[in-house]
Amino acid sequence: MSRASLDKDPQEVAAMFDGVASRYDRANSVMTFGFDRRWRSATARVLDARPGEKVLDLAAGTAVSTSEYARNGAWCLAADFSLGMLRNGVHRAVPMVAADALHLPFADGSFDAATISFGIRNFVDTKAALVEIARVVRPGGRLVICEVSTPTFAPIRFLHAKFLRRATTLLGRFSSSNPDAYTYLAESMAAWPDQRALARIIADAGWAGVEWMNLTFGVVAIHRATKPSL
Ligand SMILES: C[S@@+](CC[C@H](N)C(=O)[O-])C[C@H]1O[C@@H](n2cnc3c(N)ncnc32)[C@H](O)[C@@H]1O
Repeated sequence: MSRASLDKDPQEVAAMFDGVASRYDRANSVMTFGFDRRWRSATARVLDARPGEKVLDLAAGTAVSTSEYARNGAWCLAADFSLGMLRNGVHRAVPMVAADALHLPFADGSFDAATISFGIRNFVDTKAALVEIARVVRPGGRLVICEVSTPTFAPIRFLHAKFLRRATTLLGRFSSSNPDAYTYLAESMAAWPDQRALARIIADAGWAGVEWMNLTFGVVAIHRATKPSL
């Protein structure tokens, strides 16, 4: 399997990430010009995970995000359905579990917070996943999503739309073990809803107080929300 289609068949998506897993961390840094670290640090600040809290990092991949969120002493669990991605992160000192975002193997209200960085746009059904995540987060718990988005500054939006796809494909060729996978990533970025539309999907899934902040002119956005108390 070299790449997934935009139908986002779960087996195709998992197989595609298995294929890029060995070079994922490096390819990601190259493709984002190192901005990925800043975006994860900003996500960690918004998440504000504290010691004693249980945090689900969903679509954690190689757990590069999980280890960032665990820095303040919270118990952070890396969950992903690509065993290849998880295996390539075993050197990171965080617990890991194989899990599909649409069918989470956790009891209701198990976590104080759930977070997803650069994973949600690969889910086959965004709203259904957000409903499932709400099930495993306790009432009053938090949701924080970091994902590519739509630049708000017109010239950046122009560059983004016109050149990102080509640049991503080109960089993927140099930095990834599976260049075709980066064509899928570029396509999935272009097809992803903008900040306001994603906020609506989150609210429709039952989350309250949805708000977002833009990073790097809106190239990336962090959305946060709360699970309504009973
Ligand atoms: C781009 S990586 C993001 C990894 C990490 N969170 C980061 O910040 O770099 C996206 C991950 O989402 C995972 N993923 C996609 N769909 C999933 C699903 N339905 N359930 C669990 N993981 C999923 C993929 O396997 C992949 O590891």
